Amino acid sequence: MTTRETHHGDIPQDESELEEFVRDKLEQYYRDGKPPWDTDVAPPELTALVAGDAALLPGRALDLGCGTGTNSVYLARNGWEVTGVDLIDRAIDQARRKADAADLSIRFQPGDVTRLDSLDVSGPFDLFFDLSCYCGIPTHRRDAYAEGLTHRAAAGARLLMFGYGPGVFDDGYTGVTAAELTSRFGGWELVDVTPGTNPFPTNWFTLRRDG
Ligand SMILES: C[S@@+](CC[C@H](N)C(=O)[O-])C[C@H]1O[C@@H](n2cnc3c(N)ncnc32)[C@H](O)[C@@H]1O
Repeated sequence: MTTRETHHGDIPQDESELEEFVRDKLEQYYRDGKPPWDTDVAPPELTALVAGDAALLPGRALDLGCGTGTNSVYLARNGWEVTGVDLIDRAIDQARRKADAADLSIRFQPGDVTRLDSLDVSGPFDLFFDLSCYCGIPTHRRDAYAEGLTHRAAAGARLLMFGYGPGVFDDGYTGVTAAELTSRFGGWELVDVTPGTNPFPTNWFTLRRDG
């Protein structure tokens, strides 16, 4: 295995080994208990879009890297028909339990958001929500992510994404910029970039599908 030494240990350079490495790391977080990002609270950037003064009309939403389902549950409670996808089975199991406890019908599917064609996730969707998933996907899988969403987007669909800036993690792949999204998401317009409130570089991005 070819590796590069970083603060986060040895990062594989081979693409499939890197995907396996990322999956193992994520699995470890869920095996160890409650992951640090699992706040049980929907962020204000999402609540503004769903219930604010200029809220979208409820439609179909896809929660990418849904984790234990906090935001999927929030969307479903507000009238959206929701599908949530996460790579880690343990996260999906917890998400299903949350939805059951809230008596909400949400489709949670284990799987890779960069391989939506291999899952039962058909569009069109009016809203895509991604809280820190895309920014941690190895770069060689990101075009496939963009294509998967583009094929499943209703005309005028929104993508609301939160991501870490490049360099926050010294692993060579985590991070996302406005320039990257503009170049990868053909047929979408980047309509807003709002810095996050974290003490390190983060952004909320809003993209809108043409049409
Ligand atoms: C930082 S966590 C955020 C989880 C959730 N969005 C939340 O806010 O609680 C990122 C999530 O994306 C998932 N993920 C990462 N890469 C993925 C992929 N390629 N396909 C599906 N899920 C992925 C992880 O398993 C993890 O649950």
